[in-house]
Amino acid sequence: MTKKVIFITAAAGAMGKSQAIRFAKNDYKVFLTDVDKNKLKKIESELKTKYPDISSDHLDVRSEELWKKSIDKCLSEFGYVDVLCNNAGANYRTGFDDQSIEMWEKIISIGLTGAFLGIKAVVKTMKKKGGVIINLGSLATVKGSDSSPGYSAQKMGLIGLTKSAALAYAKYKIRCNIVSPGHVDTPFIRSNNEYSPNDWSTSIDNPKNYQNRLNKIPLGKFLTPDDISKTVLFLCSENASMITGENLLVDGGAALS
Ligand SMILES: NC(=O)c1ccc[n+]([C@@H]2O[C@H](COP(=O)([O-])OP(=O)(O)OC[C@H]3O[C@@H](n4cnc5c(N)ncnc54)[C@H](O)[C@@H]3O)[C@@H](O)[C@H]2O)c1
Repeated sequence: MTKKVIFITAAAGAMGKSQAIRFAKNDYKVFLTDVDKNKLKKIESELKTKYPDISSDHLDVRSEELWKKSIDKCLSEFGYVDVLCNNAGANYRTGFDDQSIEMWEKIISIGLTGAFLGIKAVVKTMKKKGGVIINLGSLATVKGSDSSPGYSAQKMGLIGLTKSAALAYAKYKIRCNIVSPGHVDTPFIRSNNEYSPNDWSTSIDNPKNYQNRLNKIPLGKFLTPDDISKTVLFLCSENASMITGENLLVDGGAALS
């Protein structure tokens, strides 16, 4: 049987790396992409020692030209794209008064325009024999928040984008869904990243912030990237063959209240 192919954005991040391992273990060829070339190469070398069918390319999801180049490279090496996972996101944890147009544009361009460009880049291929697209949402897809207007708009915007793609491409057997993580212990909320800055007032390195988030999770523990990647795998499987246009929350109950 020919192996299926998954194309992952932000694959040098926690969620992307977990998806890479889970799909490789489930007999997929894995194409890793990220804007951070060094981290990407490191993860590719680490995974290649166990899983031979891994390749990678530098991709800043904001660039239509780079999308084309990366998809072409994946096609020439692996022949098809069965799954696209749009993980890339950004956030500045500032309320309305302090969120600048530059912050807003960065959040929207990475998390929303990036997913739009990815869908457009991949459907040309997926139209041939179907496929699955997964967009990474958040609790912000369903809950209002005043902590970052850009992040709220980006994640709620993914609902419209996902439903639109699901409807447009269902006739080609292409499904498109969102997986929305709750609080996951990753660098996104722990470290001071260029795409997602944190300081002591926001990072979960601060025990007070860690505990505040924990208190909001009825099932009583932070999620792991693996909790998310197993849901992504489910949505890409035969068991989910009639699910499209959905937003699946994986949050330990955090959105309940
Ligand atoms: N960690 C959480 O609690 C949480 C909760 C809900 C949703 N999410 C979402 O999960 C997704 C992934 O987050 P993570 O926790 O794996 O973060 P992470 O910080 O571990 O990794 C993020 C990765 O994105 C890459 N990246 C940044 N800008 C990029 C760009 N322009 N093009 C391509 N790659 C780029 C970075 O280099 C990094 O490798 C994001 O969309 C985030 O909004 C995270």
